[in-house]
Amino acid sequence: MTKKMWGGRFENETNIDAESFTSSIDTDKALYSFDILGSIAHVEMLSKQKIISSIEKNKIIKGLKKVKDEIDSEKFIFSHKLEDIHMNIEHSLAKKAGNAGKKVHTARSRNDQVATDMKLYIKHETSGLRDSVVNLQRNIIKKSEKNINVIIPFYTHLQRAQPILASHYLLAFFEMFLRDIERIDQTIDRMDQNPLGACAGSGTSFNIDRAYTSKKLGFKEATRNSIDSVSDRDYVIDTIYSCSLLMMHLSRFCEDLINWNSSEFNFIKIGDEFTTGSSIMPQKKNPDILELIRGKCSLVYGNLISIMTNLKGLPLSYNRDLQEDKAPLFSAIKTTSDCVQIFSKTFNSIEFNTKHIAEKMNVGFLTATDLADYLAKNNVPFREAHHMTGNIVAYCEKKKKTLDSLSLVELQKFSKIIQKDVFNYITIEKSVSSKTSFGGTSKANVKKMITKYKKILSK
Ligand code: ARG
Repeated sequence: MTKKMWGGRFENETNIDAESFTSSIDTDKALYSFDILGSIAHVEMLSKQKIISSIEKNKIIKGLKKVKDEIDSEKFIFSHKLEDIHMNIEHSLAKKAGNAGKKVHTARSRNDQVATDMKLYIKHETSGLRDSVVNLQRNIIKKSEKNINVIIPFYTHLQRAQPILASHYLLAFFEMFLRDIERIDQTIDRMDQNPLGACAGSGTSFNIDRAYTSKKLGFKEATRNSIDSVSDRDYVIDTIYSCSLLMMHLSRFCEDLINWNSSEFNFIKIGDEFTTGSSIMPQKKNPDILELIRGKCSLVYGNLISIMTNLKGLPLSYNRDLQEDKAPLFSAIKTTSDCVQIFSKTFNSIEFNTKHIAEKMNVGFLTATDLADYLAKNNVPFREAHHMTGNIVAYCEKKKKTLDSLSLVELQKFSKIIQKDVFNYITIEKSVSSKTSFGGTSKANVKKMITKYKKILSK
């Protein structure tokens, strides 16, 4: 009979189906390097506190490094019988370091161990994700500078609204990604407390030094309540939530680009390298990558719902339910990282169809608001100016004319207040350059914002 590490009080061997059902090694082996880091810090502390000898500490660390090498080089054999990554590593360590190895679990439990591993994992993985988002932001700045003269309509209700700089539109996403980065940073800042030493949930009678392990592992401080330490998974939720919002922003970006890529909009061309064809319709060039990102957003939302539901109603403190926190966390971070990276590349391949866009800018009376503003600036109450402009638009529709192609005589039929300076207000370019209010779309503003964003990125 193979003895379980916890097998002292058991008479019968675990049922083989129960064993494979409870095993999490296929998933949590992703934590191995963090588990080993945690164990090294732990035994260094145990030795400093004279709970184990320094010879034992050295043996353990040597053994742990061997285990790491074996896993790195894919020589390590993971066993379902050993349940999870913690016991797989401990078991192998005991073989390598003998009795010293069997002391590694002094003054700790898998409950504080797994929470520590998860936090270390999140810190590491989100830093890669954060870098990818910053890289995407750099690409957005580059494209905004390159297309600083391109004017497109923006939409409300998917109806043409007003002219804006294409760069202004792109920079709207820069702002969203800035908030996403802030959210990641806040998540890390909030979870920057080390659970190691909370043990099973009540702390320990050994004279451990939690401040020491916290520092060794790069945590700001130690967690303050041992029960909370082993039952808290807020940081998992925070992380998946941060991923969810990032995915939502990407998905909205994708949605617009997919629309813009259609013949109906025809605003952009996506590079051949980032599109795919149809198996039946030879003419097709599909924006599949963007569609997949939109689709994968739902997977990350699923991860969020999964962890939120897991924790709702869970009694304090540790329950095995919590083992199921890993799949959604790993999946959310991986999906989001993959999506940001491939999006960035696809985005770089996009070019604006400037000629087509410019030709269509006279569709949709995009400067009607500018005309109403003109009247209001000449002392017509805005509500009346709005109504009057509405009448002018209706007239244009009937006559199949654009606003700026009307003659002054035609315009004056609606109001004698209108003078020939009106044409300084109702052309597309003038409309854009007039939006100088803070945060508005004038080129001067957008250029200033680009300078500001570059400064933020260089920090
Ligand atoms: N594999 C477990 C998990 O991921 C580790 C903690 C196990 N603790 C326990 N008391 N069974 O949650």
